[in-house]
Amino acid sequence: MSTKYEQIIKEIEVRMGDGRLKPGSRLPSVRAFSKELQCSINSVIKAYNELEKGHRIYSVPKSGYFLVGRNKTDGDIVQGLIDFCSAGPDPSKMPYRDYQHCMNQAIDLYKEEMFHYSEPLGLTSLRHQLSKQLQDLQVFTPPERICIVSGSQQALDLLVSLPFPNGKAEICVEQPTHFSFIESLSTRGLKAIGIEMTNSGIDLDHLEETFKEGNIKFFYTVSRFQNPTGYSYSNEEKRKIVELAQKYDVYIIEDDYMGDLDTRRKADPMFAYDPSGRIIYTKSFSKVLLPGLRLGLAVLPEALLESFTKAKFAADVHTPVLTQGALEIYLQSGMFMSHIDKLRKQYKKKGTILKQSYLQYLPPEAEFTGGDSGFYSTIKVPGRLKARHLVDHLKKKNVLVQDATNMYLPDYRKENRIRLSVSQVPDAKIKIGVEKIGKGIREIFV
Ligand SMILES: Cc1ncc(COP(=O)(O)O)c(C=O)c1O
Repeated sequence: MSTKYEQIIKEIEVRMGDGRLKPGSRLPSVRAFSKELQCSINSVIKAYNELEKGHRIYSVPKSGYFLVGRNKTDGDIVQGLIDFCSAGPDPSKMPYRDYQHCMNQAIDLYKEEMFHYSEPLGLTSLRHQLSKQLQDLQVFTPPERICIVSGSQQALDLLVSLPFPNGKAEICVEQPTHFSFIESLSTRGLKAIGIEMTNSGIDLDHLEETFKEGNIKFFYTVSRFQNPTGYSYSNEEKRKIVELAQKYDVYIIEDDYMGDLDTRRKADPMFAYDPSGRIIYTKSFSKVLLPGLRLGLAVLPEALLESFTKAKFAADVHTPVLTQGALEIYLQSGMFMSHIDKLRKQYKKKGTILKQSYLQYLPPEAEFTGGDSGFYSTIKVPGRLKARHLVDHLKKKNVLVQDATNMYLPDYRKENRIRLSVSQVPDAKIKIGVEKIGKGIREIFV
């Protein structure tokens, strides 16, 4: 049996859900609400105070209480908008209150240490904690080889220009791939060799030929829930890729940014097949925790530890200490794992709805990839239709999707793919959105 103030909070949530209360709008005055709900003024005040503490509403002196507007563009609050573009975690599922608690705990526990200069590779105690935590992902490594980075993007960006022990110069990368990695290459004027990623993975013979003929320093791969295709390699494929890397003296950067969300209990990372040698394993806390924290890690081979440490120091001395201290407490307390358990179920459900919707609503000529976690997937638009035309057409129908053209290296560019993420799309809207996409494709497909 919930208390009166909890019932008031529920009522407000219902009104938010059905659109009677919109982001940024004013809540009923305390007096009016107490009259309407036939409860005491104190209960309404308590409910408003609780919501304010949770940063869901705010008060303006002499004006009243207002719903927090979502920190987005005007377009976002257009009625009925379905946004398959936004790829950050769902804001309503971000555990920032728990993290706030961990930040406070970190200050209480570590005091001024949280505000001093620290180690370039990160807090020793956090690295010990991560060494334990990574075992759940079949990554067995001592803390000494773990480097905390300011988002896994920082590790990728540093590794792109670092000399490697194999003395080779070229980079090989799946096509399409994570846009930020392409940015790291292009800002340094580096070219790379692309390997096409399709709905059935990559052509391993082609990969072997590239490793054999090229002067490949490393292969950058997103081994699960690839961005943008959503593809996850089987253990067999991962084992084979690692064998090729060993045979031709090529390093692998395994970007396991969402490994935590894998529900296939026997799925290993590539790292598990070569723990001490050629695999640089990176992990991010952006998609499964809070992207603004800029927290990630890299597990480095011994041979790269010294040069990477220097590069990390040169880039930003070290990652901010307070967020590291809080992460340690967040992991240690079990909050992280219980959060991940929830996320896994939520994304699995989203993925199932998405796949069913693709099968039901897309025209047979439109191929799709991925969808397992729902986080990323792509649709190949049929015929001579260009992705950007479909993007514009769907925008008019209040459906936002991303043109994937810039997720290719310039020499491998394809203009016929859109990327979708269901991360911020409510479950009930996924089907409606895909139906609109299917209809949109049929309307302009010639
Ligand atoms: C493939 C891939 N790796 C890593 C990340 C996360 O990077 P970071 O940890 O720098 O936020 C993303 C985010 O979109 C991604 O798509």
